[in-house]
Amino acid sequence: MGIETGVAWRELRAHFEQVVELQLTQMFAGDPQRAVDFSLEEQGLFLDYSKNRITRESIDLLTNLAVEAKLPAAIKDLFAGKKINITEGRAALHTALRAPKSAYIELDGVDVIPQVHAVLEQMETFSETVRSGQWLGFSGKPIRNVINIGIGGSDLGPSMAYEALRAYSQRNLNIQFVSNVDASDFAEAVQGLNADETLFIVCSKTFTTDETLTNARTARSWLLDQLIDKKAIAKHFVAVSTNTEAVQAFGIDAQNMFGFWDWVGGRYSLCSSVGLAVMVSIGGTNFRAMLSGFHAMDEHFRTAPLAQNMPVLMALLGVWYNNFFVAETHAIFPYDKYLGRFPAYLQQVDMESNGKSVDKSGLEVVVQSGPIIWGQVGTNGQHSFYQLLHQGTKLVPVDFIGFAQSHNPIADHHDKLMANFFAQTQALAFGKSSQALADEGVDEALIPHRTFSGNRPTNTLMAEKLTPFVLGQLTALYEHKIFTQGVIWDVFSFDQWGVELGKNLAVEIFQQLESSGTGKANFDASTTQLLNRYRGMRKTS
Ligand code: F6P
Repeated sequence: MGIETGVAWRELRAHFEQVVELQLTQMFAGDPQRAVDFSLEEQGLFLDYSKNRITRESIDLLTNLAVEAKLPAAIKDLFAGKKINITEGRAALHTALRAPKSAYIELDGVDVIPQVHAVLEQMETFSETVRSGQWLGFSGKPIRNVINIGIGGSDLGPSMAYEALRAYSQRNLNIQFVSNVDASDFAEAVQGLNADETLFIVCSKTFTTDETLTNARTARSWLLDQLIDKKAIAKHFVAVSTNTEAVQAFGIDAQNMFGFWDWVGGRYSLCSSVGLAVMVSIGGTNFRAMLSGFHAMDEHFRTAPLAQNMPVLMALLGVWYNNFFVAETHAIFPYDKYLGRFPAYLQQVDMESNGKSVDKSGLEVVVQSGPIIWGQVGTNGQHSFYQLLHQGTKLVPVDFIGFAQSHNPIADHHDKLMANFFAQTQALAFGKSSQALADEGVDEALIPHRTFSGNRPTNTLMAEKLTPFVLGQLTALYEHKIFTQGVIWDVFSFDQWGVELGKNLAVEIFQQLESSGTGKANFDASTTQLLNRYRGMRKTS
């Protein structure tokens, strides 16, 4: 019996029929308090959710749904380190990674906080040595290039945060991220670099991920081609992993390894040693400020009443559109160049977490689960796909994220950027009627083409400036939004079995390709045809 059979869902369905015809234009006109009442501020992070197709009753009914899904108990279990990742038999205790040293969080009878802070201190000592030029490469030169090799959560989190906090970075360090098994990724990253000034961070929770190990082996060969002596590896490779044995088997000294734990999911691992490249770039103090932002949002999520809880509200609004308006996608548009990687980062966190089609008891879900997440920085998207958002037939709820201050206050750029930011949510919500166009004297034949229906929902998130603290708040906000939705849809948000099949098939196909076709593989006709064609073209090229 899923959530859709409960009272709250039934009431929401009936309520939806009343709300679906309402226009945001009327809702604002009839309620001068609307903007204020449908807004929330949490330690400088402001959410205006008034431009959503909701009434006060919608919020009441949606919060009833959260209660019916037993969200408060689920939040307690999350923070208490209960093994809620049932299919992998693990806790999902990423919140412990940003808890202060004074906290006490027990898992299997052990307080995890001392381990968390010991690794943070190890990271800080290492980062400082690299940043200050004291970490010397094999030939005695300081490190100038740091290359993180990892994929998925071992890449998207650190690369997103590195980009987001570039304004805080030490500019004489060239930080790069190699993730793709496509050799061009590695080749371009090391183009023109000297091995004796380059440090690789091999970042992999399992240390078994094929893409990462392939890139790490290529990096080792590239380094040894230049530096010859195998002793150079100790000066140019460090590892971030939970798998000490595999790290040592690769040839990296356990002393140069930064550990974390199986209770940290890959896509929730940015605050662990997976963030090492970020700390090297921005330093320990800024990294800790980011952790404080995460922790502030964790505390808000843990303690705020549901109707004033930012992640919960955003999650419920997402459910409203996903399940009642049947919106297939959810877009995220940061109006800040530095947040360019944020949508890609959130794609993994959201879609790997809630892209599930069976519920916790293994039965097919009856209601739609996670949406397709996508996005792009503003204003670029405006000159690309916003046409569809304004006048297309699809309903796409959007989160707009913007800041009052720029890290680069040059001429009038920032006010122009933010003018667009405000204009877009206004246009999406209120549109432009055919009457208004007629009043302007627009040619009658053109009126249908120039009409904007409006009534297109958005959230606006705004803070003073994109600081490390704010980035932490924002990231934790989405983590907890996604958790809340997983609770409502009753799916396991912390496993990712859906990535396995493709990985296994790739291994089989790779073996077949390497065995020059003599293997006994029995692929489908299409795959066999494609492999034969590939083999033929590979030979002639
Ligand atoms: O294949 C998916 C995945 O397991 C992600 O969940 C994870 O973030 C990524 O691969 C990388 O895994 P690892 O850090 O173990 O190399």
